[in-house]
Amino acid sequence: MKKVLYFCILTAVVSGLALSEGIAQTPDGEEVFNKNCSVCHSVNPPPKSAPPVVRLANLYHLKFSTKEEGVANMAAFLKKPDHNKAAAVQAISRYGLMPAIPLSDEELNAVAEWVWDQYDPAMRRGRGAGGGMRQQINQ
Ligand code: HEC
Repeated sequence: MKKVLYFCILTAVVSGLALSEGIAQTPDGEEVFNKNCSVCHSVNPPPKSAPPVVRLANLYHLKFSTKEEGVANMAAFLKKPDHNKAAAVQAISRYGLMPAIPLSDEELNAVAEWVWDQYDPAMRRGRGAGGGMRQQINQ
């Protein structure tokens, strides 16, 4: 009888753990970025070996009118980078095509949402405002 009780307690504990893990599994986009992307991408200029995130966010906001569309297209690009689908076409000739990032769909979605949210309208307004700013935007 005691054994059965222990078994029940064990089952309850294990399923409790599985449940809390399930909740914790909703990935944090910024964390995914820091672990998997920041080696090549800075958030703001100057760039590392790829365009800065703020610039990418601005490009995606120009190309797609809704967050849903922008995030879906970005996540698809991260999974399988493709010249024909790139928003940052000029960046490919400057830096080369980005390698595919082997993450789960949830992680790719979370990081794409985070990148989309880094959009900075001030930077867009700066376009053409002065040589220095223009140079930053073109990086
Ligand atoms: C090994 C370096 C490297 C890593 C790691 C990397 N990137 Fe990139 N990424 C690049 C380069 C280079 C480009 C520019 C050329 C291109 O668009 O393929 C780029 C382009 C992009 C673009 C623009 C795509 C388009 O539509 O043109 C996005 C968005 C992006 N990266 C997001 C990410 C995110 C998010 C991660 C992490 C999950 C990541 N990158 C990891 C190098 C990298």
